[in-house]
Amino acid sequence: MSESETKYAELHLDGKVIRLPILEGTEQEKGIDISALRKETGYITVDPGFFNTGACYSKVTFIDGEKGILRYRGIPVEELAEKATFVQTAYLLLHDRLPNEKQLKAFSSLLNLNSMLHEDMRHFFDGFPRGAHPMHILSTMINALCTFYPNVDMLSLKEDINLSATRLISTVRTVAAFAYKKSIGEPIVYPRYDLPYCANFLNMMFDSPVKPYEVNKDVVRALDLLLILHADHEQNCSTTTVRTVGSAQVDLYASISAGVSALSGPLHGGANQAVIDMLRKIMRSEGNIQKFVERAKDKNNPFRLMGFGHRIYKTFDPRATIIKKTCHDLLEKLKINDPLLDLAMELEDIATHDDYFIERNLYPNVDFYSGIIYRAIGIPENMFTVMFALGRLPGWIAHWQEMISQNTKISRPRQIYTGKTLRHYEKI
Ligand code: ACO
Repeated sequence: MSESETKYAELHLDGKVIRLPILEGTEQEKGIDISALRKETGYITVDPGFFNTGACYSKVTFIDGEKGILRYRGIPVEELAEKATFVQTAYLLLHDRLPNEKQLKAFSSLLNLNSMLHEDMRHFFDGFPRGAHPMHILSTMINALCTFYPNVDMLSLKEDINLSATRLISTVRTVAAFAYKKSIGEPIVYPRYDLPYCANFLNMMFDSPVKPYEVNKDVVRALDLLLILHADHEQNCSTTTVRTVGSAQVDLYASISAGVSALSGPLHGGANQAVIDMLRKIMRSEGNIQKFVERAKDKNNPFRLMGFGHRIYKTFDPRATIIKKTCHDLLEKLKINDPLLDLAMELEDIATHDDYFIERNLYPNVDFYSGIIYRAIGIPENMFTVMFALGRLPGWIAHWQEMISQNTKISRPRQIYTGKTLRHYEKI
């Protein structure tokens, strides 16, 4: 936009009029540029939790939370869920275009070639105590990757980003499966050249010398779909963490490791495990859903309905709608009758007809039904958030890459100090 076309908002402050440029995105989202505010006025803006703060310009993902729209690089997530694979979606996020046949073949082959973990890293798994949460193992192992493959900093970005991104997407899958095998005391299963991304992961998880794993195409498709739906979600907590850490020119692996830690929290990706935990507690209380709904509404009780509510969506999360349908389809195909699915649907029905949830626009989010699919696949509950991380990797990498290419300034918010004013040291 040229200087003369720029529109301005006016701020009347201390008898002065400050003109603040108005910005508009390609989907008509509007913002006010306050970057010069402090220099001109001495004031800062305050927005804990970043309800109204745009921290960057991004071309990766568009969300309209009021209308329930989610698009990766312009393509509706519903179309990708129906027609694409996770590997195609990952390519789309990383390269801003869907791959043609040749590009897809080359990308898949690179994923295959980089699926092995450095043999010395296998010993790391021995150091974790029994019962360590796989998300902690995952973030540690990703950070450790940069000591084995150190060349992914800003300077070598141009040469290495394709290789590094692919290696990360591929090896993290191997790390996740190894961590699981280690936790149950079974021998590690290496990646196989002949299996595509999701089937390869399932084989590493479930194959054993005494019970070979048979790839089930419905299970593979359900996993592929879940990974697609988790692949990106613009400036959520973990992606913001990746961008913030990366803004100090921290390498790709360490930035992603920080993102994994952010994702593990129960208010973010950790909610998928917390949902199943909550449903089981409801089941133990003889299905007294109303009691849990009342607890969630009670301001003196910290309990919240897990898998409900979202900072951005003020209507149904489009991912939850697809996941709910997939959940039904898969359970039917596998002839599984999971009482937790019936309970979840009943809970959804009660909550979405309750004034408290209606007034606050609280609907099921991506985490509400995903755990029931993971259960049907045989993935243990403490691995649910690891599955989320596998899906989110291409998004994190795309944002790190975008952030670096924009010559982003170091992230460094300000504060309003509310502590003691000047006082002096007193001798004991
Ligand atoms: N159960 C009960 N009440 C809720 C819930 C919930 N799950 N979520 C929000 N509320 C209420 C809040 O108490 C608040 O009420 P008030 O206005 O009377 O004070 C109001 O709704 C707004 O909630 P905020 O906390 O201000 O919303 P925010 O955008 O900060 O939080 C969040 C979003 C963290 C997702 C929240 O809805 C929540 O805790 N949900 C449960 C955890 C969860 O499912 N997280 C996964 C989110 S998806 C993802 O990250 C992948």
